[in-house]
Amino acid sequence: MKSTMTDPDLFLPCAAGVEAFLANEVRAITGLQARSHRAGVALKAPWAAVMRLNLHSRLAQRVLVQLAEQSYRGEDDLYQMAHALAWEDWFTARQTFKVEVSARQSPLKSLNFAALRVKDAVADRFRAHGGTRPSVDTHWPDVRIHLHLGDTQATVSIDTSGEPLFKRGWREDKGDAPLKETLAAAMIAASGWTPASGLPLYDPCCGSGTVVIEAAQIACRIAPGLRRRFAFEHLLAHDPKTWETIKSEAASAIQTSPVAIFGSDISHRMVDFARRNAERAGVAASVQLRGGDALERMPPCEQPGVMLLNPPYGERISAAGSAGQNQRVRTGRETAQTGNGEEFFRQLANHWKRHYAGWQAWVLSPDRTLPGTMRLKATRRVPLFNGPIECRLLRFDMVAGSAREPRQAGDAHA
Ligand SMILES: C[S@@+](CC[C@H](N)C(=O)[O-])C[C@H]1O[C@@H](n2cnc3c(N)ncnc32)[C@H](O)[C@@H]1O
Repeated sequence: MKSTMTDPDLFLPCAAGVEAFLANEVRAITGLQARSHRAGVALKAPWAAVMRLNLHSRLAQRVLVQLAEQSYRGEDDLYQMAHALAWEDWFTARQTFKVEVSARQSPLKSLNFAALRVKDAVADRFRAHGGTRPSVDTHWPDVRIHLHLGDTQATVSIDTSGEPLFKRGWREDKGDAPLKETLAAAMIAASGWTPASGLPLYDPCCGSGTVVIEAAQIACRIAPGLRRRFAFEHLLAHDPKTWETIKSEAASAIQTSPVAIFGSDISHRMVDFARRNAERAGVAASVQLRGGDALERMPPCEQPGVMLLNPPYGERISAAGSAGQNQRVRTGRETAQTGNGEEFFRQLANHWKRHYAGWQAWVLSPDRTLPGTMRLKATRRVPLFNGPIECRLLRFDMVAGSAREPRQAGDAHA
């Protein structure tokens, strides 16, 4: 984007609960203060910052440039609003576009119809200004226009990211319940772990490796967007020279990791996936990945560090290994369904109490009763959403013999 254009108003959507971490990240990337809103942050920033945010943000879902915000009552208001915008300054009729819509408490009956009216307005605007209308491509559009409908206010934005930012470009192999890269990054931010702490990081249920790969990229200073393209590269005002400078600055910041990062999983197939993903993410030399049951694996290094995991839970995936085996024997089913996984978590807590003294464990879980099940006191509870599932990231300090909650009457043993 040419620097002669005025600084745009940006909105960076994120998962609910992540706003404060994202505002900190935006400050670290741009030096600018962002205002936190529900599920996103807003700021005014120069175009170079738009490129930097796309390249460096681990927590934002996308970077939207807000073009208009107005009150609305029906689809005709949306049509007028979109028709008044100078789309011909942003892209040409030879490029394809798509209108995406999100809503919160909108009075409109059909969001699809609202999007259709905005699409018509954009196409009609082009026809009025040059004769031809651009085509719509719902799969791989050059330009994405975003319509957000609140209860009375509508916002029209141009999406400078394109594919959502959690798509970093390294994940080709994934398991049944992979964590979104943005959520893994939010877990890391919420835990306060940084490579500067010198503390090793370990995910004992690493699956396809999302947490350890995000952590290793942070440790190696590999910008999350270095492997992908962005929608702003298709816009008329794109400034390729500044973009090349920003990318080469990012490429020259890469370093070897100053900390040890470990992952393991009971499924060897998952460990293979994690290895291949780490390779593509440029961190294969910085993470040590192994197979193994979390209920049996000993600490991967002498120095106590930070465990960060989203363990198996619920319908999507169930605990395997010794806890799962027991259940399998009882149920006779191929895939162990451990109910709410109580036995797994009880055994995991016992294993940690015995062997992981001095470690901090951060566990993402939708189960509010987990500390009780594990008989561990949670010293922090950070609300985070895993898609639609409301979770807590729970911190347990594994201080030998002292972190237990009082036994409940009727408990047989710890
Ligand atoms: C919710 S998934 C984790 C997903 C992972 N964060 C990712 O991004 O792909 C839970 C993982 O726990 C693993 N798992 C289940 N039981 C285990 C056990 N006893 N020990 C170690 N890993 C186990 C599963 O194989 C699965 O990969």
